Amino acid sequence: MLRSKVISQRLSQVRRLSLNTRPPNSIRLGQPTHETRPHIIPRPGDLTPGISAVEYYQRRLKLAAKMPKNSLAIILGNTTKYSSGSVFYDFQQDNNLYYLTGWLEPDSVMAIEKKSDQGNDDDVVFHMLVPPKDIRRELWEGSKSGKEGAYEVFNADSVEDISKASSYIKSLINKSKTVFYDNKYDEKLNAPIKSFFNFGGEKFYGLNDVILNSGKLINPLSKLIAELRSVKSPGEIEVMHATCKISSRSINKAMGQVSTKHPFATEKTLAKYLEYQFVKGGCDKQAYIPVVASGSNALSIHYTRNDDLLYHDELVFIDAGGKLGGYCADISRAWPNYKRGFTEPQKDLYEVVLSTNKKCIELCDESLNYSLHDIHEFSVTSLRKELNNLPGFNVNNSEVSRYLYPHYIGHHLGLDLHDVPTISRYTKLIEGNVITIEPGLYIPYDDKWPKHFQGIGIRIEDDVVVGKSNDEIINLTSGCVKEIADIESLIQGGISTPGVDDELVVLDI
Ligand code: GLY
Ligand code: MN
Ligand code: MN
Repeated sequence: MLRSKVISQRLSQVRRLSLNTRPPNSIRLGQPTHETRPHIIPRPGDLTPGISAVEYYQRRLKLAAKMPKNSLAIILGNTTKYSSGSVFYDFQQDNNLYYLTGWLEPDSVMAIEKKSDQGNDDDVVFHMLVPPKDIRRELWEGSKSGKEGAYEVFNADSVEDISKASSYIKSLINKSKTVFYDNKYDEKLNAPIKSFFNFGGEKFYGLNDVILNSGKLINPLSKLIAELRSVKSPGEIEVMHATCKISSRSINKAMGQVSTKHPFATEKTLAKYLEYQFVKGGCDKQAYIPVVASGSNALSIHYTRNDDLLYHDELVFIDAGGKLGGYCADISRAWPNYKRGFTEPQKDLYEVVLSTNKKCIELCDESLNYSLHDIHEFSVTSLRKELNNLPGFNVNNSEVSRYLYPHYIGHHLGLDLHDVPTISRYTKLIEGNVITIEPGLYIPYDDKWPKHFQGIGIRIEDDVVVGKSNDEIINLTSGCVKEIADIESLIQGGISTPGVDDELVVLDI
């Protein structure tokens, strides 16, 4: 049977289930599972969208393989953060803890204990300390996974109530020779976690201090995890591809609105439309506060006010992406906000950025031995050469970097938008790295620059999997139109790319 047919059958089953009969659940958990939310996690055996319980187990073993014997790695999860009073922000788990467990509840701790160098299952013990099931609390906050969920579903070898964290972690530390831990809970920044981990009547100023004051030498942990996170598994690439496809289609759809009866009048409505399309397509949420900028608003690289009108004679610039199963898409595009299409100066600058974007994507090839920094340098030179072909420009590389292209070519992408920052920009790129390629030009209102280019800001950003060779480079956002002819066709006819209206691309993973 065709894969697409299998998927659509599965889709209709899921729809029937979700509309008519709630699946029977034997265990109530604090986050989606295949059993309770099959429309989010369609594949049995996956703990989070597209990532299996086995993969989480293997990630922990790979981390343990980097640790010496008799060592311990500890990660404190995140707590809920409040914007004001009792109004909380959307919860964001610590991404290292999430990467190793798939666990999405606040106020939790994980530890990996590596006992010896035998390399077998007994050698590595996975500990989880989590909020217990509590009927009174669940009345207000909904179900929690509890110790039962951590053990049965998330496969912890040893579980404990988080209120026992201080003594539990202290005894693990006492047994270990080497401790890996990142002190992310700065005193001033993190009052809530201090008070949270204080309960149980202990005299410590929180678990963070218990660890730091343990008398053991504390080694940084995030560097070890970054090495793992920087090379994406086939499962991660599938999820990221889904996220990027959904986001690409959403952006195409927005472009297709330009000459319809309902064009966007404001930056805000376009921003919210994109967010809705990401979720409608199957993402959990948007990955970050987007940039939606009309005309010269795009000269501010991180313009996120998004509170202006969209003017007909200006370019619309967006930098936006969805997030699925924790993985981010990060896409920038610019298009004319009127069916007439690009003006000549807009087109000239756009072509310079586009050609640099395409040449840089071709460098995402392990066999060329490039680092992110090498690609950045290449991008500066490419923009400089192409700009100098336009009348009125005569720039050198340092003027390009200083005045016209003040940011970097890109960054690793994954669970974090700017993923694994501890990996140096000078490290050679290898197969499975996922990076953004995002050259841009922003021409200030300064008579140093030709008048008709002033006030134009363009960045073209794609998400790219580094290949072992040129043939194996994957542009995850290739579905998001960027050729001038395709953009003009979209904005003139309102014709979208095939499949743009498909819902729930997530089921395709
Ligand atoms: N959206 C932020 C960035 O492109 O890095
Ligand atoms: Mn971006
Ligand atoms: Mn980016």
